[in-house]
Amino acid sequence: MLDRPVLAITAQQSFGIVVALLVTVGWILYLVANVKKAKPEIGSEIELAANRKPYLDDEGLEGPRLDRVLTWGLISLTLIGLGLPLYWLAEPGRQAGAVNDFDEVFASRGEGLFAATADGGFNCAGCHGGLAGVGGEVAYTLTDPDTGQLRQVNWYAPSLNDVTLRMTDEQIYDVLVYGRPFSPMPAWGLEGGGPMNDQQIDNLIAYLHSIEITPDEAQQQATELAEAELARLEEGAGEAGAQSATLGAALFNTNCARCHTLGWSYDEPRPPGSGAMGPPLYNARNQFPSREDHIGFVTEGAQDGERYGLNGQSSGRMPYFSQVLTAGQIASIVEYERLLNEREGGSAASAGTAGAEGRASGNANEDVGAGGEDAEEDGGPSSSQSGQAGTSELDDEGTGQAEGTGQTEGGQSDAAAGEPEAGGTGGEAGGAGAGEGPTGAASEADQ
Ligand code: HEC
Ligand code: HEC
Repeated sequence: MLDRPVLAITAQQSFGIVVALLVTVGWILYLVANVKKAKPEIGSEIELAANRKPYLDDEGLEGPRLDRVLTWGLISLTLIGLGLPLYWLAEPGRQAGAVNDFDEVFASRGEGLFAATADGGFNCAGCHGGLAGVGGEVAYTLTDPDTGQLRQVNWYAPSLNDVTLRMTDEQIYDVLVYGRPFSPMPAWGLEGGGPMNDQQIDNLIAYLHSIEITPDEAQQQATELAEAELARLEEGAGEAGAQSATLGAALFNTNCARCHTLGWSYDEPRPPGSGAMGPPLYNARNQFPSREDHIGFVTEGAQDGERYGLNGQSSGRMPYFSQVLTAGQIASIVEYERLLNEREGGSAASAGTAGAEGRASGNANEDVGAGGEDAEEDGGPSSSQSGQAGTSELDDEGTGQAEGTGQTEGGQSDAAAGEPEAGGTGGEAGGAGAGEGPTGAASEADQ
């Protein structure tokens, strides 16, 4: 649909050009004929003047000739009388069509920018799960916050086929121009130090709209992800300090955690809601004494600079969820969030270890402190290999070494072993493997 060549000329324009050509040619022919017909000058002008010849008498003047002229007049008048209103009727459609054409042209230019490097694009597709933008994983080097050492992780890159349903064009514009600092998402706009001008950013946004799925599909996608996540949470429910296995917790993990739980995106989550790019959420009940306000904020989001809650002021970077989640789902997330302080963050924080969440990945945080080199040497390269190798290796690794390295591989191979929505679930499925890798149970649960 997008690869058809640009139609620079509308049907009306080509029609107009043909008419203009016909009229010009006809007029030239008439001139030539007229010149040929003209008699040469012979003798006195007074005698021979063309207009001195006797003309038609009254009978002739008011006869068929007059009728013919009048008939033609009537016909042209009718044509004009009908043609103008018809033109007037069709004009809005033509304009809308022209706008559509422009959108398609923009989107197809955007597609070119979005494409993988090999196809001449800027490789959005490479990180975000292909041209359809279903989400993916990116190898990324970060500075470990505990050890200060550089380390490779796999960072979850969100799906973009629903991004236009949860972020306004202005929000997307900001992310594209300035990127997401401290994440693999680079800045693309000139102002952010990237290579693209405003027109290219706009084209990318047009492309994102062109691959947009429907809100129904997005909600279904979110429901499936959350159900898988809930199953994973239930697996770990018995363990000390485990994250509560509620739908609210699962939905929080799959929709909010990548901005509100540090480390979520690379399978080493700190306590839920402890804050990352978005603020910690332990304060939610003070910020929103009224549950309705809280729900309203998550549902509608807030514009840049707008005030929210008791003393919040938005940076405009928090998405809105009215289209990608149902009202019921939002209510259960909010329910979960309002208890975060006591139940999750509180207990995890007082236990003093991130591992209190009952996630192998939580443990990894400590392991990195103790055996950080292991994690570096083994974790990076071998993890990507075992990722390809699939599930059998997952079990081996999981039981063999239930340390930081083991969990990375677990998460990896699980994601690669492929759920149907491999791209979209990459991050979460990885989490699942990480949690239960050692028992080998997760791989069954996930499949
Ligand atoms: C090197 C990998 C990489 C490349 C290349 C990349 N992105 Fe991203 N992008 C990411 C990651 C990772 C995130 C999520 C960051 C985070 O965790 O907050 C992201 C976030 C985004 C978001 C915000 C989505 C959200 O829901 O928060 C948008 C929009 C986006 N990218 C669009 C693009 C476009 C368009 C391009 C190409 C011009 C592109 N990205 C190229 C890795 C990449
Ligand atoms: C792309 C990152 C991102 C995602 C995803 C995200 N948030 Fe946020 N959130 C933010 C940012 C940034 C803020 C800070 C407020 C602002 O700038 O508008 C915020 C603020 C909040 C606040 C207000 C906290 C306070 O005390 O001021 C709540 C509550 C909240 N988010 C809930 C959620 C929920 C629930 C979800 C998932 C359904 C979610 N967020 C997903 C980035 C995100």
